[in-house]
Amino acid sequence: MSTVNTPGPARLEGREKVTGAARYAAEHTPPGTAYAWPVPATIARGRVVTVDTGRAMDEPGALAVLTHENAPRLKDVDDATLLLLQNDRVPHRGWYVALAIARTLEAARAMAAAVEIGYAPEDHDAVLTTGHPGLRVPDEANGGFPGSRERGDFDGAYERAPARVDATYTIPPLHNHPMEPHATTARWEDGTLVAHDSSQGATTVQETLAELFGLAKERITVVSEHVGGGFGSKGTPRPQVVLAAMAARHTGVPVKLALPRAQLAATVGHRAPVVQRVRLGAGEDGVITALAHEVVTQTSTVREFVEQAAVPARSMYLSPNSRTTHHVVALDVPSPSWMRAPGEASGMYALECAMDELACATGVDPVELRVRNDTATEPDSGKPFSSRHLVECLREGARRFGWHERDPRPRSRSEGRFLLGTGVASSYYPVLLAPSSAEVRAGGDGRYLVRVNATDIGTGARTVLAQIAAEALAVPLELVSVEVGSSALPRAPLAGGSSGTGSWGWAVHKASRALRALVDEHGGTVPPGGLAAGADTSDDVEAEPPYAKAAFGAQFAEVRVDRDTGETRVRRLLGVFAAGHVLNARTGRSQLIGGMTMGLGMALHESSTLDARFGDFAERDLASYHVPACADVHGIEAYWIDEDDPHLNPMGSKGIGEVGIVGTAAAVANAVHHATGVRVRDLPLHPEKLL
Ligand code: MOS
Repeated sequence: MSTVNTPGPARLEGREKVTGAARYAAEHTPPGTAYAWPVPATIARGRVVTVDTGRAMDEPGALAVLTHENAPRLKDVDDATLLLLQNDRVPHRGWYVALAIARTLEAARAMAAAVEIGYAPEDHDAVLTTGHPGLRVPDEANGGFPGSRERGDFDGAYERAPARVDATYTIPPLHNHPMEPHATTARWEDGTLVAHDSSQGATTVQETLAELFGLAKERITVVSEHVGGGFGSKGTPRPQVVLAAMAARHTGVPVKLALPRAQLAATVGHRAPVVQRVRLGAGEDGVITALAHEVVTQTSTVREFVEQAAVPARSMYLSPNSRTTHHVVALDVPSPSWMRAPGEASGMYALECAMDELACATGVDPVELRVRNDTATEPDSGKPFSSRHLVECLREGARRFGWHERDPRPRSRSEGRFLLGTGVASSYYPVLLAPSSAEVRAGGDGRYLVRVNATDIGTGARTVLAQIAAEALAVPLELVSVEVGSSALPRAPLAGGSSGTGSWGWAVHKASRALRALVDEHGGTVPPGGLAAGADTSDDVEAEPPYAKAAFGAQFAEVRVDRDTGETRVRRLLGVFAAGHVLNARTGRSQLIGGMTMGLGMALHESSTLDARFGDFAERDLASYHVPACADVHGIEAYWIDEDDPHLNPMGSKGIGEVGIVGTAAAVANAVHHATGVRVRDLPLHPEKLL
């Protein structure tokens, strides 16, 4: 077994980014650009009955106010969060009811404040409870997974088990909050639309806009050249691109719309709150005989989104008798959506805390307990894993971390007024792939150009695609340029589900190999006019594999808890992952420690409060919604075990964008229990819960 951590190539666009030359969506200003500012609803549910735009239109520079009365009509699409300003219904507080457009940003903001909306409010229900009469089991959870699964006889096996854990864990709503807010600059020219949009997938945005506006997709170009983070909140089109396109069509001038951060919480999605009951039945040796993971969550009345938190329990451990179920209720609340490792981050928090409780109940070491429950086949599908190496991650992590020096008794270590503890949890994220196309050109000048509508959301996608092409072409990396981030490029899937590198890379690899063959046919030289080859992986990707495929990992945390204040600090966080071949150690490590840092935020700080009276979130900025700052992150280390798995894709890679956040919160919570003896089952681990 080897762990590999040699540096990889630096980001191709790094210099552009640090010098400010890289242009983001709101940094395009075509001549005559106007500015838009949205007006959110101030009631939690009801109807718009009057709209008075008189005062708003008196603002100097005012161009128009769009409302449901005058906005361009949109065609129906699956995602109803995009059907904006189409009727008088207010499904939740913060839903957009008008859009002010002016010559300047300041005027647009002043106009938005001056728009007078009269409402007919209705009673609303924004409170999730585990006894809510509206709860039901959905056919499908997010990702198309069955809403409920049963194997064997859970009730009987649990009843007979000598060791049992029955615990309920809660996670509050969480928000993605990327550095770059959701923004679009849109312009119409001769019936065609060009939108610079901050998005994780310009092809998806292009195709959705084509449906909404009833246009051939060839008449729409969406550019997402540089994107300042998304974490799922830009995975599919969000309101800004629809509003900007409507505003530009209505006014006849280019329109720029950057959503104010204070409005993001209600409009671009969030990780839904989940209440999770986990029951584990095991032998005295800790081997699991019965596993139930039951999830209660909420969605909105606009669109169904069911956080698939019970899904990882279908893959992780031995579970001959298993029940994994989601219950969802549609409330008058903003629509939840994707947030980094939706389902896995939530579900593995609960499952991995329950594993720690089982370790305590049986006296089996937490690392050893996970080893004993390892499985070579995926319990739910019965398929063998193409590669797994969870045990190797646990063992290598334990060695590097110094796990075995630990006295397992809670409150056994302290330093002055600080209690110290360590905890472990496993990580898991499925290998997802989507069909992609790509084109590679060889110029007469000896250079190569890769063209694919991939999106670099800050991950280093450009760089790794250049590496893949260089390797498949057998040419030096310096000779390869990459164009990504435009729907005018060959069609490609979005950057989501940790599927980008595998999906785009497969197409780039295939096109590069085809081009290499073409060059060879020309006697190894490129004619002055150049050569080009294209590829599409639809057939390669859609074949149903006989294997279960996932990335795994093990995370170890050491915490220090202040006895007097209850404040928890994470002293050390160490992860070892198994994710196929990591193609670029530099950007790969950034992905993993970025995920772990986000998991640290989930453990200790991050929380959005849905105010039941108003039906909306109280935290609306980065002061009240605290994402980890540098001062919160002490020692953090990510390593990996290089896996040679021929069943993944030609590069042998698994996704790494999300596996890093999975398990972190449990590792920290388990360490806090070890330090204090207090089992907090409700995130985040705020100080008052420990006093
Ligand atoms: Mo990620 S939540 O799959 O964009």
